[in-house]
Amino acid sequence: MEAAARAVNLVKTYGQGDTVVTALDGVSVEFERNTFTAIMGPSGSGKSTLMHTMAGLDAFTSGEAYIGGTALSGLSDREITELRRDRLGFIFQSFNLVPTLTAAENIALPTSIAGREIDQAWLEEITQRLGLSQRLGHRPSELSGGQQQRVACARALVSRPDIIFGDEPTGNLDSNAGREVLEILRHAVDFDGQTVVIVTHDARAASYADRVIFLRDGRVVNELRDPDMDAILQVMAGIEG
Ligand SMILES: Nc1ncnc2c1ncn2[C@@H]1O[C@H](COP(=O)(O)OP(=O)(O)O)[C@@H](O)[C@H]1O
Ligand SMILES: [Mg+2]
Repeated sequence: MEAAARAVNLVKTYGQGDTVVTALDGVSVEFERNTFTAIMGPSGSGKSTLMHTMAGLDAFTSGEAYIGGTALSGLSDREITELRRDRLGFIFQSFNLVPTLTAAENIALPTSIAGREIDQAWLEEITQRLGLSQRLGHRPSELSGGQQQRVACARALVSRPDIIFGDEPTGNLDSNAGREVLEILRHAVDFDGQTVVIVTHDARAASYADRVIFLRDGRVVNELRDPDMDAILQVMAGIEG
């Protein structure tokens, strides 16, 4: 079966001439459907760049990135915007909620921008599962960081996107709130057939994944399947050492 997302010899450089930075140096990787992948690596190794180029948030320099069977290089800016909106969900370290909107309005926003109807039964199920039922009328400033990130999870899940991408989704959370978010993402893969890809520098977070990809200097240098924390820490120590 076709991968949910795929990169083929993906290259991303920033700047020109003497100041050129190669953030991705020919990355080929597949994210299988209905799996949870974590991308790890030292700071500056290209994790965010890989995720952002594969998710159509950032242009790449050469190579190709696919969402399902769709090659991103063939799309106009407008088509990329539509693909992101229709097929992808995002969770960021900084939550990225609209401060003037309630939790319910934030959750519904991408769906209403897309001009589609919210599936109310599904919305109720996920907000209940995320413990947000009593918080739907609150604005982000009235919620804890963990609650705000659960709102962001609900926003990403409500449209049943092909893939949910998270760039350090637990990076601003304490360990309890972080664990809740990881369990939500794990549940989405195990019970809702979702595909999840997160960037993290936390071995505990990565241990929730089915597979960990390790980057260094813009290249994939290792991977683990069904990783446990010890194995992850060992690979990281080798990469950083
Ligand atoms: N907008 C940018 N302009 C110039 N260099 C950048 C930019 N974004 C990232 N980089 C560089 O690309 C490399 C990879 O960055 P990034 O993907 O953010 O790494 P990570 O997420 O692993 O910390 C780093 O050397 C970083 O300095
Ligand atoms: Mg990053």
